[in-house]
Amino acid sequence: MAKLIGPKKVKTAVFISGTGSNLKNLIKFSKIKSSPLSIDLIFSNNSKAKGLKFSGQFNIKKYVSSLKNSKLAETKILDLLKKENIQFICLAGFMKILSKSFIKKFNGKIINIHPSLLPKYKGLNTHTKAIQNKDKIAGCTVHFVTAKLDSGKIILQKKVKIYKKDTPTSLAKKVLRQEHKLYPVAIKKIFN
Ligand code: GAR
Repeated sequence: MAKLIGPKKVKTAVFISGTGSNLKNLIKFSKIKSSPLSIDLIFSNNSKAKGLKFSGQFNIKKYVSSLKNSKLAETKILDLLKKENIQFICLAGFMKILSKSFIKKFNGKIINIHPSLLPKYKGLNTHTKAIQNKDKIAGCTVHFVTAKLDSGKIILQKKVKIYKKDTPTSLAKKVLRQEHKLYPVAIKKIFN
């Protein structure tokens, strides 16, 4: 990734589908002087996503589309991203798979946070899988997005211990707390 030149922050869109705790965390991070990013657009494929409330709260533009007719919808999103001069995309709990052609248009400029230590447990239900397999360590990964699900180059990971008493819910909470620490550090690593 190109180094930042001058004081301008990289205009970024965050894609969400749900609660948006990572989105909120990224917005807070973006306001720090040393953050390489500004968050200028929130996109959700779910009109009921709780995270959309941060659009009003922080005065950030939002756009919602179910992506049901995905080709047409993606074209609309790409037009909007172009219009808003968006240069970088952070996926934060975005549960829809973007098309190859969309990813190609933002090649190397989309990153994702995933709740496992990739390459272990791509896809869904990562915490259930880790507990069922009696793993002792779980964690989270920030990685570049490529056409192959959860398989792009890893930027950073953070580990979390799994105890006998952990359930998928308790583990998800612990991992999420680490996600909030990891995502900003991973972003700084890309742009430095
Ligand atoms: C996070 O744990 C994130 O890693 C995960 O969804 C959660 C969203 O929480 N993402 C995925 O599973 C993507 N495959 P949030 O909406 O509170 O940020």
